[in-house]
Amino acid sequence: MQEAAMASARRTSLSFLMVAAAVVASASLADGAAASPKATPQTSPQCFAPPSAVAFLRQRCATTLYRLVCYDALIPYGCTFNTSHVKLARAAADVNAARLRSLSLRTKELVSRGSPGESAGVAAVIRDCASMASSASNHAKETAAELARLDAMRDAAKGSQLRWAMSNAKTWLSAAMTNEATCADGLGFSGAAVSPAAREVIAEVVTAKQYTSIAMSLVNAIPLS
Ligand SMILES: *[C@@H]1O[C@H](CO)[C@@H](O)[C@H](O)[C@H]1NC(C)=O
Repeated sequence: MQEAAMASARRTSLSFLMVAAAVVASASLADGAAASPKATPQTSPQCFAPPSAVAFLRQRCATTLYRLVCYDALIPYGCTFNTSHVKLARAAADVNAARLRSLSLRTKELVSRGSPGESAGVAAVIRDCASMASSASNHAKETAAELARLDAMRDAAKGSQLRWAMSNAKTWLSAAMTNEATCADGLGFSGAAVSPAAREVIAEVVTAKQYTSIAMSLVNAIPLS
């Protein structure tokens, strides 16, 4: 048991060194106790959610603004979170990050492909959205990493430590929301409605905003004791 823990600690410190440069900003935000920043998203597990997870998710999603989107997006993770608020919030942040990443890739693609026949205004807004989506995607990843650290602390996370981690997670999500809102506002002018590329980005941003809102609700619901 102890050997396994030490081996795991060695692996952790090695992987920490390898990713240290990338996570230095987030690591400095974390409490000293946060030993292993894990930015790797959970892969979608191939398993069925136990009935306890189904009931828990129904109940938690009912407190969000998008009950059905929440349930459908997160039920595939049922066996990882079961009845854990932190694990559920982490799954929501992972799903949100993946969504924003695909938005980021798609908008970049639209920018590099160019849009013959698009007005210069539309092209400029899509360019802005590409950069907003890229930042938002990074912010959602930071949120997931913060929740992964909180999850790794388990019962050791108490009081100020827990509040600090939650506050960081909420700060990252708020930043993502600001990015999404900036993109959505940019696309709100009438010229955008006639552009297929702009319409596609609008639809994606609307969905991404829902996922971010869901993640925020679930982070807010993490009990402080
Ligand atoms: C899931 O949570 C329930 C209730 O908290 C518990 O009884 C059950 O053993 C857990 N199942 C798994 C697979 O962890």
